[in-house]
Amino acid sequence: MPSSLYKYPKQVCSSPSTPKTLEQDMAVYSINFLLLLLPLALSPLCLAFPHGAPFLYPQFYDHSCPKAHQIVQSIVAKAVAKEARMAASLLRLHFHDCFVKGCDASILLDSSQGIVSEKGSIPNRNSIRGFEVIDEIKSALEKECPRTVSCADILALAARDSTVLAGGPFWEVPLGRRDSLGASIQGSNRNIPAPNNTLPTIITKFKLQGLDIVDLVTLLGSHTIGFSRCTSFRQRLYNQTGNGLPDFTLDGGYAARLRAGCPRSGGDQNLFPTDFVSPARFDNFYFKNLLVGKGLLSSDEILFTGSPETRRLVELYAADAGAFFAQFVKSIVKMGNITPLTGSKGEIRYNCRKIN
Ligand code: HEM
Ligand SMILES: *[C@@H]1O[C@H](CO)[C@@H](O)[C@H](O)[C@H]1NC(C)=O
Ligand SMILES: *[C@@H]1O[C@H](CO)[C@@H](O)[C@H](O)[C@H]1NC(C)=O
Repeated sequence: MPSSLYKYPKQVCSSPSTPKTLEQDMAVYSINFLLLLLPLALSPLCLAFPHGAPFLYPQFYDHSCPKAHQIVQSIVAKAVAKEARMAASLLRLHFHDCFVKGCDASILLDSSQGIVSEKGSIPNRNSIRGFEVIDEIKSALEKECPRTVSCADILALAARDSTVLAGGPFWEVPLGRRDSLGASIQGSNRNIPAPNNTLPTIITKFKLQGLDIVDLVTLLGSHTIGFSRCTSFRQRLYNQTGNGLPDFTLDGGYAARLRAGCPRSGGDQNLFPTDFVSPARFDNFYFKNLLVGKGLLSSDEILFTGSPETRRLVELYAADAGAFFAQFVKSIVKMGNITPLTGSKGEIRYNCRKIN
């Protein structure tokens, strides 16, 4: 998309107000004449997209809610200061939203008549978190500019702010997503990869979302922050392939330490960092750990052991944090562009947990 398109404010679609007296009319005639040319120059966009552009752009709220970015950032910063892990939880929310019906805030809906919440799906149950922070952001935004900022855009902005607060790269977030009128627990179960999926299965699940192998390896670098429950990787510690042996790609000493906190049975909810070196820091230690058999999830280590193509990327990012960051901003914008609702589709929810 040409970046010049970003500059077109939505407001140019409405006509400028007319002065009331002839005197005023004369005084502003020449400037009005120039102002008339502006909408004319921009009108192709308005004519082509009378209900708003069918694509996302970073300046979407510049006129309708200029403080939106600042409000999201300050509430995310407060939440992360209180609990560092919240940065990881908010980043993951955006991912689990986008992989189900697109980035449309479907994950935020609670169950009600006609809606079975995605919060109860296998990947989300007892695991996904951060909803209270999103609620706090939404109510602050409803006070500042009612019915304007979508819950789906809040998720995208909160994911970016979380990444930056954890020491990761900044990117401009394309905006203008609208909120879904439903949820899909089947989609949540089907589309979000499981930690014991094979590499070909994981690659296929990303491909179905329009994401390639570079996007996969890069986005999985998000596991440089946050935590996993014992239940998500226990299989690797005791009986990876059904022969009663641990995953041979897992470092022995690291496996022994993990078994101490993740017994054969019980302790399902015990938490372990997905990057044991720097769990609150968005850096490239996740990739460095994979090189030495210290990836936590099977789906993490498999990036290094599963194919030459993914291995080369792991090696590149382990050696060059700058290369990881530069690709991360591209891949996460791509993920954020998965089939958004735009124009007059969907709605702007008042409350992220329910449809209006
Ligand atoms: C093959 C793909 C992926 C798999 C199998 C996977 C799996 C998991 C699992 C099992 C957990 C721990 C959940 C728990 O036990 O409670 C987790 C946590 C996390 N995932 Fe992923 N994930 C994948 C891709 C991604 C992507 C693409 C992102 C972000 C763009 C992401 C961000 C996170 C974050 C930040 C956490 C920590 C959340 C927290 O501490 O609250 N993951 N993931
Ligand atoms: C993956 O884990 C799930 C849930 O623990 C389990 O039901 C399934 O059998 C595992 N799949 C494989 C291939 O090990
Ligand atoms: C490992 O898993 C296989 C197949 O799931 C099962 O038959 C076997 O009893 C397990 N072995 C141990 C030691 O748990």
